[in-house]
Amino acid sequence: MIEFKNVSVSFKQDKQIFAAVNDANFKIKKGEIFGIAGSSGAGKSTLLRTINLLQTVSSGQIFVDGENVTNYKKTQLRILRRNIGMIFQHFNLARNLTVYQNIAFVLKAAGKSKSETDARISELLGLVNLSDKKNSYPANLSGGEKQRVAIARALANDAKILLCDEPTSALDLETTSSILGLLKDLNKKFGITIVIITHELDVIKGICNRCAVMNKGSVVEIGDVYAVFTKPREAFTRQLLSHTNHFSLPKEILDKMEGPIIRLTFKGDNANNPILYYTANAFQIGFNILLGKIEYINGLPLGILYVQLIGEADTLKLAIDYLAENTADLEVINHGL
Ligand SMILES: Nc1ncnc2c1ncn2[C@@H]1O[C@H](COP(=O)(O)OP(=O)(O)OP(=O)(O)O)[C@@H](O)[C@H]1O
Ligand SMILES: [Mg+2]
Repeated sequence: MIEFKNVSVSFKQDKQIFAAVNDANFKIKKGEIFGIAGSSGAGKSTLLRTINLLQTVSSGQIFVDGENVTNYKKTQLRILRRNIGMIFQHFNLARNLTVYQNIAFVLKAAGKSKSETDARISELLGLVNLSDKKNSYPANLSGGEKQRVAIARALANDAKILLCDEPTSALDLETTSSILGLLKDLNKKFGITIVIITHELDVIKGICNRCAVMNKGSVVEIGDVYAVFTKPREAFTRQLLSHTNHFSLPKEILDKMEGPIIRLTFKGDNANNPILYYTANAFQIGFNILLGKIEYINGLPLGILYVQLIGEADTLKLAIDYLAENTADLEVINHGL
């Protein structure tokens, strides 16, 4: 478990003090995959780096597994960092070392013998599916392969926590999904706690259990990913989500349409009910689906449908009331009645 207690980090800029992280107070549970989202410069990397003390705090405390690590020095710090692996957007591998040597380096630093090192590297490369690349140099690896090496290196000394700073931002979509799959597997197999910073909200939707949203140094929202994405409490979160959720009917199409057009949101259990079918039968009206998608956030469905309703005005009003009661949200986009 990781706990931030009144954590602030200030920097001096042009003789002025400014807070890159402002009074962070929250816990990350053992074994969860926790995401941190927010705009550029919000303080995400700074906050993440306080966990392994790459960044010292200006005030407040960091607890790891119940222990106050804030003022750890030398030996304690070295042991802490062995337990907390970290990976980065640009992989940070040593270019002049092979895959084997990149990983051996951290095992040697932890005092492992040659035979222990060899055995552990074989095991790690098997885990990240790179057994055939042991003697390759980073220049001859793809981005996804480099990140796999970085993950193997980060976990070499049996780290229990993995910090990820934009781990997939330099990767294409397919490679991103394979790296996320690997992180999810490692989390499941070994119970590793994963903290992941990303500006790609799909990454958070795809693998995180809970997430925090940061704005200008402050954590403004925190909660289960599904709740944050389907019912954001803060205006800033709604704004952040709107950048990725380009899902609306083009105005020129809307203007051409006759009859009421509604936007329906289905969440969790009600996403699986054939509610349109029930409504059409009960009220004898027609539906014309104009736009729709169902996505899965943390394994739970969120569906959005734009539908044009066809029928008599009185019946349509009743049908809209019925739909409003039986879906997570109903917005009338165009009354047309
Ligand atoms: N060592 C430093 N000295 C001075 N200012 C710093 C230092 N590190 C970070 N900052 C400033 O702190 C603020 C937060 O930076 P940080 O890197 O944590 O943001 P971020 O949320 O990770 O942004 P991005 O998404 O662009 O990576 C920025 O304004 C940055 O310029
Ligand atoms: Mg950053």
